[in-house]
Amino acid sequence: MGLVVVADRSPEFVGRLETLLEREEGITLASVVSAPGAVETAVKEQAHVVVFGPSIQIDAAIAAGEELASRSRPIESVLVAQKVTAELLRMAMRAGFRDVVSSEGSTYGDVGAAIRAAHEIAVRSRTAEQSGTAEAPTASKKAKIVTVFSTKGGVGKTVVATNVCVALAHDLKKSVALVDLDLEFGDAAIMLKLEPARTIYDAAQAIDRLDTEMLKGFLVEHSSGLKALLAPRRSEDAESVTTARISRIIGLLAEIVDFVVIDTAGRFDEAVLTAIDRSDEVLAVATMEVPSIKNTKVSLEKLKQLGYRNGGVSLVLNRSNSKVFLEVAEVERVIGARITARIPSDLAVPRSVNKGVPVVIDAPKSAVAKSLVELARNIAGDT
Ligand SMILES: Nc1ncnc2c1ncn2[C@@H]1O[C@H](COP(=O)(O)OP(=O)(O)OP(=O)(O)O)[C@@H](O)[C@H]1O
Ligand SMILES: [Mg+2]
Repeated sequence: MGLVVVADRSPEFVGRLETLLEREEGITLASVVSAPGAVETAVKEQAHVVVFGPSIQIDAAIAAGEELASRSRPIESVLVAQKVTAELLRMAMRAGFRDVVSSEGSTYGDVGAAIRAAHEIAVRSRTAEQSGTAEAPTASKKAKIVTVFSTKGGVGKTVVATNVCVALAHDLKKSVALVDLDLEFGDAAIMLKLEPARTIYDAAQAIDRLDTEMLKGFLVEHSSGLKALLAPRRSEDAESVTTARISRIIGLLAEIVDFVVIDTAGRFDEAVLTAIDRSDEVLAVATMEVPSIKNTKVSLEKLKQLGYRNGGVSLVLNRSNSKVFLEVAEVERVIGARITARIPSDLAVPRSVNKGVPVVIDAPKSAVAKSLVELARNIAGDT
């Protein structure tokens, strides 16, 4: 039997959660009105999950969540806020919250899903503890998560993301999932010649019931072995793929495969920030042109300001043989990040894009393919 403690001052909110979890076997609910009260009750009653409602002050909830996560026997926590901003998401994830969801919207689907998922994890880690195989609370995540990023369009993010995935799957025999988070205009499906029969939209719609088994059903497999979670077919469907859902989907994917590679839209949106927040490594793609270098510098500075750790960011210089007057060392110095890969410009790339066959398969002997495989090796720690 698992106990969920709900901290909120509004009887209406508590009532809604009661209704939501009523049919959930094995969960009982206790309600308190303050964040410190929640910590006290949760510890005393050995609760599995604490939910902080929208009437609890964010600072108090964050502090309480931090305390719950730092205990020798951590208690899972979920934050329900009126509006989930990237900043809030970052703070909460740092504090050790399992999930952050919005109270807006009529169904409370995200809220229910988040609580059930946190409860499941708590039950699993307690069982492991009892059977002497205690694991850290994040032990269910096994994958390395990599986000391919730039705030400038057309620099080669999708070429890099798709080819790195194919190289990981095909050349290095790793299990890998590609997520197309360019939700409105994603073209990974085209570059890989995949039919978007199922997409991230389906996963987001099923968030209430989503688990690893169900998520596997939404992945489309490529002949290289890579599994892709493609962008919605219709750009208007992007809206329902909320940050809370993205965060949960990435978390589940990380339990299924060894590498999750996320392709993003050429801008700073909340989906991208959520992906970066979840990532072990960020590949900032830039071309050897002054505007691209300047953009990369500005966006990495912005990430730093937002508090994203900069250690995991490295540069991928695409079209690095372009005839321009920039020195590689100069680029590294200006941007303040090391270059992990230099990918030459090659006509084989647009040719492969048009064919829908990634260049690492279409022209494996080309320098461009070799540099992409090298990048994949680098990511796999296999150099
Ligand atoms: N190394 C390269 N050599 C030659 N052409 C390239 C190279 N890398 C990318 N291109 C070309 O540049 C175009 C844009 O690449 P891609 O779609 O990967 O960029 P993107 O950053 O994902 O763009 P968007 O921001 O629009 O999603 C592609 O048509 C591709 O053929
Ligand atoms: Mg792209």
